[in-house]
Amino acid sequence: MELSPWAAFVAAVLVVITALFLKTIIQSRGRRTYNLPPRPRPWPLSRRYGPLVQLWFGSMPVVIGSSAEMAKFFLKTHDAAFADRPRFAVGKHTTYDYSDILWAPYGAYWRQARRICTAELFSAKWVESLEYIRDEEVRALLRDLRGASGSVVRLKGHLQMAALGVISRMVLGKKYVEAEDAAAEGGGMPPAATPAEFRELIDEFFALNSASIVRRTKKMSRQFGRFLERVLDEHNERRRLSRDNVKALTQDLIIGGTDTSWMTIEWAVSELLKNPELLTKATTELDRVVGRDRLVRESDLPHLPYIDCIIKETLRAHPAAPMLVPRLAREDVSVGGYDIPAGTTALVNAWAIGRDPALWDAAEEFRPERFAGSKAAAAAEEPDFKFKMLPFGLDRRMCPAYTLGLREVTLSLANLLHGFACRLSDGMTEENLCMEETYQLTLPRKVLLEAIVEPKLPAMLYAGA
Ligand code: HEM
Repeated sequence: MELSPWAAFVAAVLVVITALFLKTIIQSRGRRTYNLPPRPRPWPLSRRYGPLVQLWFGSMPVVIGSSAEMAKFFLKTHDAAFADRPRFAVGKHTTYDYSDILWAPYGAYWRQARRICTAELFSAKWVESLEYIRDEEVRALLRDLRGASGSVVRLKGHLQMAALGVISRMVLGKKYVEAEDAAAEGGGMPPAATPAEFRELIDEFFALNSASIVRRTKKMSRQFGRFLERVLDEHNERRRLSRDNVKALTQDLIIGGTDTSWMTIEWAVSELLKNPELLTKATTELDRVVGRDRLVRESDLPHLPYIDCIIKETLRAHPAAPMLVPRLAREDVSVGGYDIPAGTTALVNAWAIGRDPALWDAAEEFRPERFAGSKAAAAAEEPDFKFKMLPFGLDRRMCPAYTLGLREVTLSLANLLHGFACRLSDGMTEENLCMEETYQLTLPRKVLLEAIVEPKLPAMLYAGA
């Protein structure tokens, strides 16, 4: 039997719980007695135990909220109480002792780091002014895909390099990951990493952050450190942050901005290949609005409502961070008669909320139309809508780059669909296209998407940046 990622995740947790059961009992002796939320047997968690359950990850108490009400409780009503992040065994090595933004403890350093990034990298004006970078990287994506057209293509590699290109150029001023021959052609220094080396590093990063294997993590961290040292040598200005702080921040932005983007696009294309009538609707809109003699520009995006609906539906059904990023209770809090003691890790199950049949009609179906029209627009304006659909988290620790992320994902998807006729590889049918997910911190496809892409536009449009 195939398990959903959520079930597989819980299963893994429960194995740890059993192994550490005795230790937990011993450690809990002598503490204040709390009336804790019910503890589950394996699953299905939220359906059997309600929207709030407690688990133990080893000796660490964890509560999981799986309803819009619980999302509101953790992320709005008690946002300040849950604004911290837990510390994991591997975190010390992967985050320069928590001196990034994502895992930094709530406090003065996090505030300063987040303020610097928000003001200097993610402000609307700055994001707007770097449109040419996104445009050039999309062109480079189309050029590379055209080179691979006609045969079976694994989209992940191409999408990952395009997302990385955008983030690197926005944050660091140039690309540090390139094929050696491309760098030599540009007359520059050898790349800090080749695409293959970088892919391996990122995949290892996510695998290890999910699995907590300290020795392998230290090794991976040293490799990432060498990459970042090379980047930093070229950026001597350190402002008020230490060299390690800057490395931690750079790593956050590269990792946070790369995988979330390519994964979202890969899921969107997968759903469209599985539902060809939706793909036709999307390409018809692109032909009508953009026409076949040019690529899609950012200024076209407001006129592509169906593409917008596809992105929203993808974020609902396949949120790139299915449990958001864990929060940590800074103080004792109570909900529905249950106590959540300070020090408890809180997860908000955005994946389950996005598929909650009480909130969404035909929640398991991919239906971009649910976001279309004035009725849907009015519903999205309702104050509590943000707790139904929260792919970027909410409030204090919400993704600071969501405008950039959305723009990049929408532009890339639109150009991919406009530039190429996409179809499943020979022998693969819509019915047997695997749509299983793998739970890490993010939610990649279990099986990489393979497709055949055929260029549709005049050849000169694929000339690249
Ligand atoms: C589709 C694209 C993206 C998605 C779905 C996404 C999702 C998320 C989520 C769910 C969180 C945690 C929010 C919470 O705890 O409530 C987060 C945090 C964060 N994201 Fe994103 N993200 C995306 C793009 C980006 C990009 C492009 C960057 C940077 C270049 C970025 C940088 C960050 C950072 C630094 C944080 C940590 C915020 C903090 O802890 O204060 N993300 N993101």
